[in-house]
Amino acid sequence: MVAHAPLNPVNLPAHAVEVRGLTKTYRPAGKAGPKLALKGIDLAIPRGSLFGLLGPNGAGKSTLINILAGLVNKTEGAVSIWGTDIDAHPRQARASIGVVPQELNMDPFFTPREMLELQAGLYGVPKAERRTEELLDAVGLKDKADAYARSLSGGMKRRLMVAKAMVHSPPVLVLDEPTAGVDVELRIQLWEHVRKMNREGTTVLLTTHYLQEAEELCDTIAIINHGAVVACEPTAKLLRRVDAKALTITVDRDLDAVPAALSGFTAELAGPRHIVVRYQPSRQRVDGVLAALAATGLGVIDLSTEESDLEDIFLQLTGGAHARGEGVHNAA
Ligand SMILES: Nc1ncnc2c1ncn2[C@@H]1O[C@H](COP(=O)(O)OP(=O)(O)OP(=O)(O)O)[C@@H](O)[C@H]1O
Ligand SMILES: [Mg+2]
Repeated sequence: MVAHAPLNPVNLPAHAVEVRGLTKTYRPAGKAGPKLALKGIDLAIPRGSLFGLLGPNGAGKSTLINILAGLVNKTEGAVSIWGTDIDAHPRQARASIGVVPQELNMDPFFTPREMLELQAGLYGVPKAERRTEELLDAVGLKDKADAYARSLSGGMKRRLMVAKAMVHSPPVLVLDEPTAGVDVELRIQLWEHVRKMNREGTTVLLTTHYLQEAEELCDTIAIINHGAVVACEPTAKLLRRVDAKALTITVDRDLDAVPAALSGFTAELAGPRHIVVRYQPSRQRVDGVLAALAATGLGVIDLSTEESDLEDIFLQLTGGAHARGEGVHNAA
């Protein structure tokens, strides 16, 4: 394989990954008909980005990632990785990317240390440049370094796959649900490592069903649904799309209806002493609500506001697959 040669900074591509008009039709053997899994996707992942790819089950995320990884053949369209077209120079393209597939596959009779060494060998990483110990440490597998892979737990196997994808220090790292089945503490540790790599220049593309995770981690988010991109924006901009907040006011007296003074607002009672006012921060201010309330003589004990989050946007854009609980393992 071609080892990744450091590129001259002037030659660095603007986009770590660029996908144009990408389609994929699966033609399974047997009775099932063809399945159009990607319907002409355009996607540009900026170099240096920590990019989240979200979408409900069956949206086409893994199909896209597996095409990048060279594990699935595309039907139509063009893909370039780190400025290299995958059709023209497949080996060079593959040397620029490290992929952790959703489906884990590993030889059960190798140990984590052997597996990382073997993978480094496959990618032509010289012994002196190998990072086996550092990677084992980063994914919390130092004490399992010499155990057979088959004796690792599911979460440990996934962490080992993450380490394996990083042995050749690719400029682009792609993680397909890296934290599914990984416990909370190690998830945090794994994300810390991903963040660190990103800060040091690695472009990261990840899919996750944990929306909160994507919101906190990713600078840019694309949402795909039924094989098409329905949104692709900087995370902050995407979050601003839902211009709605809820203000909960705790008052000092039991109420049986929303005070008439608040009739100009969208307000409801959420308990005898809790009034919830919904408002659009871009148009309305909280002090108007409070002034109206003060005029009624009610005392305010406490206030809290709640912003809409990625989950709301996700539901809007994907027609609520999450809400219907279609097999999505969402964060608790
Ligand atoms: N090998 C295959 N043969 C036939 N159809 C397939 C194959 N792999 C995936 N599909 C179909 O393509 C569509 C997209 O699947 P894909 O695995 O890309 O979704 P996903 O977004 O990764 O979903 P998940 O969140 O469940 O991982 C689905 O309808 C799926 O059934
Ligand atoms: Mg998938």
